[in-house]
Amino acid sequence: MNQVFWYTTRATGVVATVLAVGSLILGLFFSARNTGAKRTAAWWLDLHNYLGGLALAFTGAHILASLLDPDSGIGIVQAVVPGTAHATAWAMTWGVLATYTFCIAVFTSWPKRRFSRRVWRWLHLTSVAGVAFGGVHAYQLGTDATTTTFEIGLLVGAAFSIYAVALRVISAISRAMSR
Ligand code: HEM
Repeated sequence: MNQVFWYTTRATGVVATVLAVGSLILGLFFSARNTGAKRTAAWWLDLHNYLGGLALAFTGAHILASLLDPDSGIGIVQAVVPGTAHATAWAMTWGVLATYTFCIAVFTSWPKRRFSRRVWRWLHLTSVAGVAFGGVHAYQLGTDATTTTFEIGLLVGAAFSIYAVALRVISAISRAMSR
């Protein structure tokens, strides 16, 4: 039975990471106005929000599975308070922080955007760091992190994310210069 929770922890973690990276890339393409002509900007934004919500749902399932796995060494305190997991303090801290940023991004945007645009944007941007934290957490803690497929997957995700961030920064600079 323990194996079921162990496999579920790993599978939901991988799915949450893929969804979070997808949402990040779509969000950055949308805000860099790099969405192409085939689909409307609203379509990209909807998909970005949808994937972000799904990433949080899978993160919830991932945390639940690790709590139910008696061999994980994770209790409710370790899942909520950064730095409290004994043998894996840093690895777990990245996971906990990533989860908080995902919660902030989703719950400040849904069901309706809250706060002023400026405050909301800064809160929302914490999820960019959150995706990176999730990747570090997975690399440091995952059973599969020693496999080549997993490492290539993480590298590809990181490369696409960095590309999208660079595109967004370049777009912000060129917009500021043309003002
Ligand atoms: C409180 C928050 C979290 C907890 C308690 C937690 C717990 C765990 C545990 C116990 C493992 C080790 C599983 C194993 O034995 O391999 C793990 C691995 C992993 N976690 Fe998390 N995690 C959290 C947040 C996150 C977040 C936010 C993400 C990404 C969105 C994530 C993605 C992953 C991935 C990809 C793995 C590697 C799975 C594998 O080896 O295939 N985790 N997590």
